[in-house]
Amino acid sequence: MRLVRWTPDDLFRRLDDVVAVYGEAMNYRTDLLAARRGYIATHVRRPGFRAVASLTSEGHLAGFGYGYLGSPGQWWHDQVHRALDGDARQHWLTDCFEVVELHVRPPAQGLGLGSRQLTALLTMAPGSTALLSTPEADEQRSRAWRLYRRFGFVDLLRHFHFPGDERPFGILGRGLPLTPQAPADRTASAPGPSVP
Ligand SMILES: CC(C)(COP(=O)(O)OP(=O)(O)OC[C@H]1O[C@@H](n2cnc3c(N)ncnc32)[C@H](O)[C@@H]1OP(=O)(O)O)[C@@H](O)C(=O)NCCC(=O)NCCS
Repeated sequence: MRLVRWTPDDLFRRLDDVVAVYGEAMNYRTDLLAARRGYIATHVRRPGFRAVASLTSEGHLAGFGYGYLGSPGQWWHDQVHRALDGDARQHWLTDCFEVVELHVRPPAQGLGLGSRQLTALLTMAPGSTALLSTPEADEQRSRAWRLYRRFGFVDLLRHFHFPGDERPFGILGRGLPLTPQAPADRTASAPGPSVP
């Protein structure tokens, strides 16, 4: 398995695969995926865009992650901005890299790919904070929650509802840069996290 850095064009060229991995990982209905495809296509052009992909030796996509710098006028940023109080807004949203998607195909989950992808993404990320949202779940049993906690993400908002989505989400954040000394970054010494 190779971990590679993707340019915006790299991701755009593999958009069908990206949406397929996203759908499998999140177990989303096909009709939701068409809309998501359109969003991702616009996300690749946002400032500060960074992306990584896990590729098999045959070049199949096993996982990916991407994010960009948040700014007013972006839907996710505006929802979180509205929900945070003034000090928290100032601290977390002023210079913020949003981890927008991080997914691994189910057969490849639990093998460390998500950790490697997140390490690479946060190492490349511009900004002084990193934010993300993830569906509420049992923190001990959920791979996503375990991963984010290990990387030092803390709660900004819990049981948050985005308009049009009935699921509650946690909004989590951590400071940047990601230092190799961070106790969360267990993958820093693991083989293969460097991204060409
Ligand atoms: C979340 C996700 C990206 C993590 O990637 P991954 O490659 O599966 O994760 P890793 O192998 O790096 O392991 C992450 C954590 O899950 C734990 N884990 C592994 N197998 C597990 C299992 N069967 N049950 C619960 N936790 C498990 C790992 O031990 C690790 O936790 P730790 O750091 O406390 O040891 C991936 O599982 C995924 O795509 N999940 C579905 C989609 C999703 O939730 N995306 C994030 C939404 S924001």
